[in-house]
Amino acid sequence: MIDPFLADWLNLLLRWGHMIAGIAWIGTSFYFIALDFSLQKREGLPAGVGGEAWEVHGGGFYHVQKYLSAPPSLPDHLTWFKWEAYLTWVTGFLLLVVQYYLNAESFLIDPAVLPLTATEAIAISLLSIAGGWIVYDQLCRLLALRHPTLLILCVILLIAIAAYGFTHVYSGRGAFIHVGVFIGTTMAANVFMVIIPNQRKIVAALMKGERPDPRHGAMGKQRSLHNTYLTLPVLLMMVSNHYAFLTGHPQSWILILLIVVGGASLRHYLVRTEVGDEQREIAWLLPVIGAVLALAVVITTPAGKPAFTGEVSDADVLAIAQGRCVSCHAAKPADTTFSEAPKGVMLESLDDLRRHKPMIMVQAVNNAAMPLGNKTGMTPEERARLGAWLARQP
Ligand code: HEC
Repeated sequence: MIDPFLADWLNLLLRWGHMIAGIAWIGTSFYFIALDFSLQKREGLPAGVGGEAWEVHGGGFYHVQKYLSAPPSLPDHLTWFKWEAYLTWVTGFLLLVVQYYLNAESFLIDPAVLPLTATEAIAISLLSIAGGWIVYDQLCRLLALRHPTLLILCVILLIAIAAYGFTHVYSGRGAFIHVGVFIGTTMAANVFMVIIPNQRKIVAALMKGERPDPRHGAMGKQRSLHNTYLTLPVLLMMVSNHYAFLTGHPQSWILILLIVVGGASLRHYLVRTEVGDEQREIAWLLPVIGAVLALAVVITTPAGKPAFTGEVSDADVLAIAQGRCVSCHAAKPADTTFSEAPKGVMLESLDDLRRHKPMIMVQAVNNAAMPLGNKTGMTPEERARLGAWLARQP
């Protein structure tokens, strides 16, 4: 078992690396889509050039020309954009190992959902990540370029099945991160297995003076399009697992679907704005996004009144905190996963509980996000009692 202090450092550095690579990946993806739409035609462009763009940034002027197929001869130095995607996946996978696999009992498993051992939970994770890609890839090949709309519906259905499946196997956080990992893996594998290899085939054909098979380009473009629409949902999936009102919700798979639909709609709105569509043509997307958001707010709104109406004494509440929270939330946690109180939250006294009232309401009363993975076996009645007591505190 890796020392919790060193694991924390590793976690922080991997998270940093993951963010750096992810920003670079999504940044280049956004940039090239915007660039593509800003290209303009004019008389006198070199043969094979479909459009050009002038840009100004950082004190310099850039003049970019896009060749529709390929230039007559390739330059010696050609910049490929692939390491951003690969490194985002590698750092993300290592972060999954450090945070979720090494602490499976705390972060991945919830015995009330499914009593898995750590080995089982990790095996399911690895198989589902690989299996998810295989199913997605086969769907794309099967429906290929003939049924693009049906394919998109199938991809959404696949994500819905993944969301339902993961939320019925893992803890809330474990499930949310796995939907994110599933989508992110698909995106990175699209780059690694389809977009870049097809691009290489095109380049190789051109070097030999042959006409490249247009299917290679079309396949790459289709995967690229999927990636474009998945960028915003995957970002929200990755950060949403810090929000107990999402991950701790009993029907959280519906919230995952709302994230996918809302995020993709927002991306569509941004893409169409870049294409130059009139606002009156695309403004209908805004109420759709608003409605998705409103639905999510309604679904996650906590019940107004405490579910427990009986007497709850200070001693009762202290006993609940001692039994269910203090193994982690203490200055010196007994739980070996943690070297200090998580997020500095200690719950050892009544004053501690009063101080953290709003957060405890969100984490442990209105949602079942705490105790983490319900490692200490908190019952619904205890949640209601804790809620009733907290509601009486100033
Ligand atoms: C198995 C260990 C463990 C147990 C038991 C546990 N927690 Fe936590 N708690 C954590 C961890 C880890 C975090 C930090 C989560 C994160 O980084 O998002 C946390 C965070 C919190 C936070 C801060 C949330 C935030 O957004 O900053 C609150 C409040 C909380 N726990 C309340 C409780 C309560 C109340 C109990 C008992 C009913 C409890 N926890 C039991 C591990 C635990």
